[in-house]
Amino acid sequence: MTRVITYGSFDLFHEGHYKLLERAKKLGDYLIVGVTTEQYDESRGKLNVVDSIIDRIENVKKTGFADKIIVEDHVGQKVEDIHKYSVDIFTIGSDWTGEFDYLKDFCKVIYLERTKEISSTLIRKQKYPIIKLGIVGTGRIASRFIPEAKFVSGIETVSAYNPHRESVERFGKRFGIRAESENFENFLEPLDAVYIASLHQTHFEYAKAALNRGKHVLCEKPMALSRVQALELYTIAKANDCLLMEAIKTAYCPGFNQLLGVARSGIIGNIVDVEACFTRIADTETRESKDPNYGGGFLEFGNHTMLPIFKLLGTQYKSVSFDSIKDVRGIDLYTKASFTFDRGMALSKTGIAVKSEGQLIIAGTKGYILAESPWWLTKSFEVRFENAYKKEQYTAKFLGDGLRYELSEFVSLIHNGERKSYKFTEEESIAMAGVMEKFMEMRK
Ligand code: CTP
Repeated sequence: MTRVITYGSFDLFHEGHYKLLERAKKLGDYLIVGVTTEQYDESRGKLNVVDSIIDRIENVKKTGFADKIIVEDHVGQKVEDIHKYSVDIFTIGSDWTGEFDYLKDFCKVIYLERTKEISSTLIRKQKYPIIKLGIVGTGRIASRFIPEAKFVSGIETVSAYNPHRESVERFGKRFGIRAESENFENFLEPLDAVYIASLHQTHFEYAKAALNRGKHVLCEKPMALSRVQALELYTIAKANDCLLMEAIKTAYCPGFNQLLGVARSGIIGNIVDVEACFTRIADTETRESKDPNYGGGFLEFGNHTMLPIFKLLGTQYKSVSFDSIKDVRGIDLYTKASFTFDRGMALSKTGIAVKSEGQLIIAGTKGYILAESPWWLTKSFEVRFENAYKKEQYTAKFLGDGLRYELSEFVSLIHNGERKSYKFTEEESIAMAGVMEKFMEMRK
């Protein structure tokens, strides 16, 4: 018996897939088809798979060509499968020619001619028109965002806005996009969505104006500086059927979501304490080092440190108190925010002129999770127990700057007509704005 194996995402199942499976089946007597998981696709940079793995498996099954369907979820699995299933032939489309020659040590490798003029990417483009995105603000984060956006299909950055003409023109030239400095309404007009990456204190007004014009909004953190502001934005978003997402990039990263899953699995028992630290010694000339009203450590990094706290202990904290070391202008150089909850406690440590170990520790009644610096770009974490020899390590892929994950979530929610992400909820966003408000009041 000749056993054949092939792999693919098989998203938006099309004729090219059908023909490939038909020919693969004819190469032998028994066909095994490996369907990739979303996580595996994400880890190799394929961020916009539309169909769920269940649907994709179902579509492969319906062709009647597959004798066995397996799931592919990690690098190196192909060699394992070839041994495990005593495979004679590995086959795949000609778009991969040469890529899998290394498998020739284990079985025969055949590249089948790809069906012309059809692909999942093409169907995705036809089904979902490209989202035209404009960027508000042309600073550091905006410059990092544009190259990241190129990894997400279905969206195109077309313009930038900044009331400072020189800055926006320089930015527009650098990235080959339209620059607008005069009229915000004109800037909004041709767009489907905006990414707000301007100064903290301007986020609210820009987001409000864009939502009122029916544009989807991805807004840098802190999106709002009071509960009332945050509530207002979500209300306007709902009224205009717009997606409003706060861009806390960690929330959308695969590794961080895996960490949350492990933490909630019961492996460390009941979670009673979350301690998150994020510090960076900032250049003294930066906005966060100079602005007495909207600079400082907590406004800069507090959304990041509050993220695991609210995710794991909920948003209904009983109390929050702050201790800060400030400079003469009142800018917090280092801030500890302590929370108490019915079921535990939490500590956030942020700083722009103090350096500490940037780790995340989640303590439970049976063990703890340690995610080392930079935990906010979650690449790995460890579960530890009383017995110091018993450790479980987890690693996850984290590509580029990580901004592609939040954008990918933004795009897929818009495409699917959804208006909220479970990865970072409205309730969590409003609660964070409330803490920011309390911090700013305390600082007065
Ligand atoms: N395939 C093919 N002809 C096409 C499209 C895909 O023969 N027109 C083959 C691929 O070469 C692969 C299998 O079908 O062997 C599964 O491919 P997959 O990557 O899932 O499909 P694509 O349409 O290429 O997806 P994407 O556009 O997302 O890359």
